[in-house]
This record gives sequence, C-alpha cells and structure tokens, in this order.
Amino acid sequence: MTATSQSTRQILVTSALPYANGPIHLGHMLEYIQTDIWVRFQKMRGHECHYVCADDAHGTPIMLKAQQLGITPEEMIAQTNIEHQQDFSDFGVAFDNYHSTHSDENRQLAEMIYNRLNDNGFISTKVIEQLFDPEKKMFLPDRFVKGDCPSCGSEDQNGDNCDSCGATYSPTELKNPRSVVSGATPVLKESEHYFFELPKFQNMLQEWTRSGALQEEMANKLAEWFEDGLRNWDISRDAPYFGFNIPGTTDKYFYVWLDAPIGYMGSFKNLCDKNSNIDFDAFWAKDSTAELYHFIGKDIIYFHSLFWPAVLEGAGFRKPTNVFAHGFVTVNGAKMSKSKGTFIKARTYLEHLNPEYLRYYYGAKLTSRIDDLDLNLEDFAQRVNSDLVGKVINIASRCAGFITKKFDGTLSSTISEPELMAQFIDAQDEIAQHYENRDFSKAVRQIMALADKANQYIADKEPWQLVKDPAKSDEVQDVCSVGINLFRILVTYLKPIVPNLAKQVEDFMNMELTWQSISQPVVNHKINKFKAMMQRVDMKHVEAMVTDSKDTLQATIDAPAAKKALDPNSPLAKDPISPEISFEDFSKIDLRIARIAKAEHVKGADKLLRLELDLGGESRQIFAGIKSAYQPEQLEGKLTVMVANLAPRKMRFGMSEGMVLAAGPGGEELWILNPEDGAQPGMRVK
Ligand code: 2FM
Ligand code: ZN
Repeated sequence: MTATSQSTRQILVTSALPYANGPIHLGHMLEYIQTDIWVRFQKMRGHECHYVCADDAHGTPIMLKAQQLGITPEEMIAQTNIEHQQDFSDFGVAFDNYHSTHSDENRQLAEMIYNRLNDNGFISTKVIEQLFDPEKKMFLPDRFVKGDCPSCGSEDQNGDNCDSCGATYSPTELKNPRSVVSGATPVLKESEHYFFELPKFQNMLQEWTRSGALQEEMANKLAEWFEDGLRNWDISRDAPYFGFNIPGTTDKYFYVWLDAPIGYMGSFKNLCDKNSNIDFDAFWAKDSTAELYHFIGKDIIYFHSLFWPAVLEGAGFRKPTNVFAHGFVTVNGAKMSKSKGTFIKARTYLEHLNPEYLRYYYGAKLTSRIDDLDLNLEDFAQRVNSDLVGKVINIASRCAGFITKKFDGTLSSTISEPELMAQFIDAQDEIAQHYENRDFSKAVRQIMALADKANQYIADKEPWQLVKDPAKSDEVQDVCSVGINLFRILVTYLKPIVPNLAKQVEDFMNMELTWQSISQPVVNHKINKFKAMMQRVDMKHVEAMVTDSKDTLQATIDAPAAKKALDPNSPLAKDPISPEISFEDFSKIDLRIARIAKAEHVKGADKLLRLELDLGGESRQIFAGIKSAYQPEQLEGKLTVMVANLAPRKMRFGMSEGMVLAAGPGGEELWILNPEDGAQPGMRVK
C-alpha cells in the first residue's frame, strides 16, 4: 500500500506497555512520540486508525515494590496508571485507549488464549529446579539473586551475567548466592512449570518474517535465532506472584510476558466495548484484513517477533502485519545517568520545557532504522530555535502584522506566486511517503528546505520596504498572503509532530489544517491577530531540568507531590533525605528494639553516654552520642531502636557493639521510644 493510496485502511497500532512500577522517562518517550506521530499522520490521511496502550501491571518486581511501599499491588498500579496517563497526555500522545493488563478483558483473553493453546497441543509441563528464598518463601527470578561470579570471582554480581568479566551463566552457578529480597542464602527447589512449545512454530515464523518488510536489523537477528534453534518457553510462575492464575491451577500464574502482549488485545477490547462502531474481530480474527503494527524498543524484539506471533497463531488469531523497533535514547552521547542528571523523567521535563520541543527534536532525528538516538541538549535547543522558531514561525510573524494592520486581516483574493505554491503542494506525496515509512527525519528535512524557500521569498520581496510606498499596497498584501499560505502548508506537514503548534496556527488561520486542504489556496479569507506561538528554548531551563534530575529526592519520590509536601519548616527541608540506597543494602540492616538497662556518664567524654542494652536475652555495650539530650537516669528503662548487626567498633573508652537510633536533628532535640508503646526488647523493626 503506498502513502498516496486513497482507499481507507483499517489500522491498529500499539506502543509497548510500560511497567507499572516506575515513572515514564525521556527514553520511554521516544517510542510514544514516534508512534503518536505515525498515528496522527494516518488519521490525517483519513484512515481508520486506532492507537491503544496499557500499563504492564504484573510480575515479581511490581509485587515486591508494592510490598516495599506497604500498599497492595492494586493500589500501586492504580496510582501509577494515573501518573503515566497524565505524562502521556501532557506530551500530546493521544491514545484512543489506555488500559491495564490487570483488567477483566485481559484476564478473559489470557485464559482463552491459554486454553486454546492447551487444546491445540502447544502446552507441556516439566519439573524444573530453581533458586528459592527460604525466608521469603518464593522462587527468585534471576535478577533477584546476587553472588560471586563463577568465572572471575568478582563479588556482588547479577544472577545471569557478570559486569566485571562479561560472563553469562545461570543463577545456580553463582558462588555464595544470596537473595536480593531477604539476604537469605537461596536453596534449590523443584516445581512444575508450564511451557509453550515454540519450536513447533519455527516454519510458520520463518514464513511470517519473509512475508512483511521487516527492518533489516530485525531480519538479521531473527535469522540468528532460527539458526540457534528455538526452545520451549516457560510461561508459568509459582505463587506468590502478582498476575493471573493459570486455569485449572491454584498456585501457578502466567508469567508477566505471557499476558503483557495480550494486553494490546485487552485494551482494544475495552475500547470496542465503549465504542460500538469498532469491531474487535475485524482487527483480530484470523481472516482480518486490517493492519496491525507494534512499535517497540530493540530490547524486546524476541518477545514480539517470535513468542507473540506464535501465540497468536497457536490460538487461532491473526498475526501482526509488522513490528517496528527503535533504538535507545542516549543523552549527550552517553547512557542516561542519575548522577549526571540525564536520567530525565517525563514529569521533570514538563516542569521546565515545552513538550513540543522534544516531539520536534525526536521527530527530526527519527529514522526507520534501529539505531540509538542521541538527545544532545545543546543541539536540541539549537535545532528547535533555528527550525521551529527561526524558520517556520518566523514566516507568519513577518507577514501577519501587515495583513492585520493594513488589510483588516484579510488575505488577497488570488495567489500571486502560483509556481512557488505549487512546489509546496507538490511535496505532499514525498513527505507522506517519508511519514509512512517512519523516516520522519527525511520528512522534516524536506519541510525545512521548503521553509528556507519561503523565508528567502519574503526576504527578496521585503514587504517592510514595499509598505512605505502607498502605490505598492496590493503587492504587500499579495506577498504576505503568499507567505501565510506557505506557512499554512508547512505547519500542516508538521502537524503530526507538533499538534499543539498546529492548533495555535488553526486558531490564527481560522481554519482546520487538514491533508486535503494543503492544495486549496486560502484566499479572500480572514485571519486572526498573530500571537507569539512558541518561546525559544532557553538553556537556563534545560540546565534547571538537569539539576532537578540530579536531585536525590526526585530519584525516589514523585517530584511535584514532594515539592508541594515540602513545607519550608518541615524536617525534610532542613535535613534532606540522604542519597538513595538499594533495597538490598537496606535489607542488610538488622534493626531491633533494645531496652536501656543501664546508662552512665563516660569519664572524659562530653557527648557520649555508656549504655548497656538488653536485646531480649543478649546484652550489648554501646557508646551513644545522646548526652546533649538525656541525663543517664532519664534513659534507664526506656526502649530504643538499635542497629544490631553493626560491626563492633573500638572506641577510646571501650568497644561499642552496635548503634542506637534516635529521632531529631541533634543537640537537645533527640527522642527515643517510650516503653508504654508496646515494643519488646529483641523485636525486629520493619
Ligand atoms: O519491556 C517492557 O517495558 C515491557 N513492559 C513491555 C511490554 S510490551 C507488551 F508486550 F506488553
Ligand atoms: Zn566475572
């Protein structure tokens, strides 16, 4: 199908479903902006195009994060869903539906698909051995096991590969393994798992990859995988797990990656249920003639080009028309980094900069290939300023004033430069083809070359000189009317990329900018007063965004909420939260309640008291710097929280065997627990 085809296509488009346990950042935004531009283009061309997405709500990390926050996974994913949708909408990403994989639609579809796969003989079971956390009573995914590399011995390496020597291995091969969740030593444990028999689909998949125009890099990857041979895919996880129960079992769950892509269907089903004009089967039935595209990152090609088409085929559904992968975002030439402030959350960006700057910059750099894209912040500012503000908007700002002031806002009744206009109009098929091919950078290059022509035309005609000669009044109107028409066409071409700018231009032009209207000269038409449409990017704002992204508070807490909550008189304002530590670091600390059995002054020490602590059976000596707040006799019998597993330290006055925790900034303002509160010596503090 070519971009110039007039027939209406039915197109369903998805972007990858973001996990529901973290905020959207500028790396994610590349994909949503890319997809949104493509969808807006298809809609402008008059096609029936639906764009759906959802939060990817299941899996171990989501279950554990909710536990860590002390809330239910349902509560956590509901909150995240609101934040994600707000971020997307503020960036102008216009989903037709945004749902969650933890939904009734998705549960029903996942069960149906599983049952069909099972009935069709594509599911088998096998007992496998895996690492199990005996304390948490759960099987550990690879990333939740750490230990020493079996190859080079480096400490604290991940469960599947070594950062130090690059070796890959199975978590059972790690030396001194430990659970990241509890710190316990994992044990091997058997359990029955359910497998999807992917190798049965090898021929079909090879056929499928030949049938569409796959990206070259993707075709190469697939060829490698086919050569290595496909293996059965483990689609079950044991309780405890946040997900859907496998039909016919009580303690087995679908692995998150089984029901995640089904979430595309679930979200679309939810849309169909709300809108009776859209027919689910027309898009998903085996004989569907609709087009189905998944936009994804390069890291999840395997799931989308092997597992997903095979699952669809095995369950009697149609397969995707194509899968479009993009590369990763780097910032200033390097991986996004929290310490450099280049790990920028969507929300932090929005607090400082206009979202259309980023849409434009990504649009201007995106190609149909899988290359990484560098967001160079200097280049970003420079590019937006010179192209959007300096070239495009400048055309209107040079022409509109004369039309408003001298001609009552009315454009000429004819186009005085039909050839120049024709060049702009004739570019539409090529520009459309670039959009269709996801070669947005080529479209933008062509649009900017036209913008240069428009500016050159105005510079040559110098309406600001003509206006000085009353005899040339008609010419001023003609030149400015041509300028405004060229501007109109340029912004129509850019509309999928910068919809908000286009909206402002529509208000200014008093008309809708549609693809069909490109070739219709706008004459004898009243326009509105020109208002500034976009500020230049100010590097100060870019720098402030980077500074805010370095903020340690922001790394862990929702920034706007935290800012609101941050009363200047609050303890947090005076004593900010320390840099983030990992859950793993935290879980090493053993906090216990201790009773202060004895407290006494230490000769020669101004700040220290010697405490004897009763840990409920064990006694410890600790030197604590709380003399400024308490007299020894006030402390005896009181309870305190202590770090029970801190290595003993030799101090001038003797051994200190732990550390006492008290609340407050210090000096006289230090508080410990009251025994009346019910805590008992030896109790763990959580
Ligand atoms: O990699 C990810 O972020 C996944 N949450 C993407 C899922 S896409 C789809 F398959 F659901
Ligand atoms: Zn190693």
